[in-house]
Amino acid sequence: MAGSSRARVTTVGAIDPEVLAFTAGRDVVLDRALIEADCLGTAAHVTMLSRIPVRPPILTKEDAARVIAELKRIVERARAGTFVITMEDQDVHLAVERTLTEALGDLGKRVHTARSRNDQVALDLRIYAREQLLGALLECGALAETLLVFARRHADVPMVGRTHMQPGMPSSVGLWASAWSEELADAMELLIALYRLNNRSPLGSAAGYGVPLPIDRALVARLLGFDGAAHNVLYANQGRGRLESLILDGLSHIMLILSRLSQDLMIFTMPEFGYFALPADYCTGSSIMPQKRNPDVLELVRAKAARVRAAASAVFDLMRGLPSGYNRDLQETKEPLMEGLAVTRSCLRVMNGLIAGTRVNRDALQKGFTAYVFATDRALELVASGMPFRDAYHHVKGHLHELTALNPREAAMKKTHSGAPGGLQFDLMRARIRAPQRFARSESRRLAACAARLLGA
Ligand code: ARG
Repeated sequence: MAGSSRARVTTVGAIDPEVLAFTAGRDVVLDRALIEADCLGTAAHVTMLSRIPVRPPILTKEDAARVIAELKRIVERARAGTFVITMEDQDVHLAVERTLTEALGDLGKRVHTARSRNDQVALDLRIYAREQLLGALLECGALAETLLVFARRHADVPMVGRTHMQPGMPSSVGLWASAWSEELADAMELLIALYRLNNRSPLGSAAGYGVPLPIDRALVARLLGFDGAAHNVLYANQGRGRLESLILDGLSHIMLILSRLSQDLMIFTMPEFGYFALPADYCTGSSIMPQKRNPDVLELVRAKAARVRAAASAVFDLMRGLPSGYNRDLQETKEPLMEGLAVTRSCLRVMNGLIAGTRVNRDALQKGFTAYVFATDRALELVASGMPFRDAYHHVKGHLHELTALNPREAAMKKTHSGAPGGLQFDLMRARIRAPQRFARSESRRLAACAARLLGA
């Protein structure tokens, strides 16, 4: 049907309506999340264009100010939900350009000088991703802290330590909860590494090969609060997709932690265990069984870990066959990235509330301690009186029925070496969480200040 009367006219040419809908795909909807990022990027770009030594100037300082005033209006409309990306726009980039041209005429048509949608979308996604990563970092920190508070409050409450899910050795609720907290501290370091990899500006790479104009990429990067420009223009351009893949790998790692924590909680809140009780308002009922209080939240976190992993796999699989340079396939990495971030962040938030409201049943925990749980402690007692460990092991193994139950709390707390139930350094663990939290807060402030300066807010 190409060239038929059905063809739709877009900013960049006429196209068959079905092909238009097919190629624009979900961008018309998804790009709503990128409007502010697109406007910020454009504000930095026109500021740079107005400052470079080109005669006659591409844009004067006054031109740039007029464009920026219009961009500010677009941001306001976006916040009010009234900025529309049409199918003919295809995406946010052409929607903003159209709006600028409608308002400013020829001036609007100059804005796209020296850039491509390829570097523009890569830039928008990096601006979007860094904000999301900082949000995830704070949410991860909040959950890690809640787990640490929980651990500290129940530091010496005895809990059977298990291997193969079988009772193993005396342990504590403090050890169990702070282990998950420390895993999340690792995740926070991972998020900061991802943030740093992401925080370089691809703008000015244009279609991936630069432009024959003296553009100032470092200035654009500085104005937008990036740590600098991604250097090689082809590298800068094709970082898109690979960064998405890295971020989703990191997110699926966070979800792995949350899913396993959920699994533990599902087991330990079963009536047969009863170690913990979930907050009532985090449980759901049954439409037929009046007594039911189900851990749906935990089950959904477990399921969503699979979804985030699937998003990570989708992007990786999509990327691994792509040749260098821009390929339209990259557009398909947008939705998994957005979904992965939104899902992971919502899981972090809901788990935080759930842990904060979880209660500990000391009696049930105590009941888990049969005499067998002290078998290893008994062997080590014999070692203390001089017996070689292997002999002590066999002696206890041969006399298991003679074992007597010790005081579980005392047995757990006797392990006072670093990181053991009686040797947990909560302050050290807290410091590991606090440092990335401070980083997230100061970066958020810095980025907000850059945005305010750029748009003159
Ligand atoms: N919506 C497109 C994307 O996400 C924007 C870039 C289009 N570039 C192109 N060369 N067709 O990839």
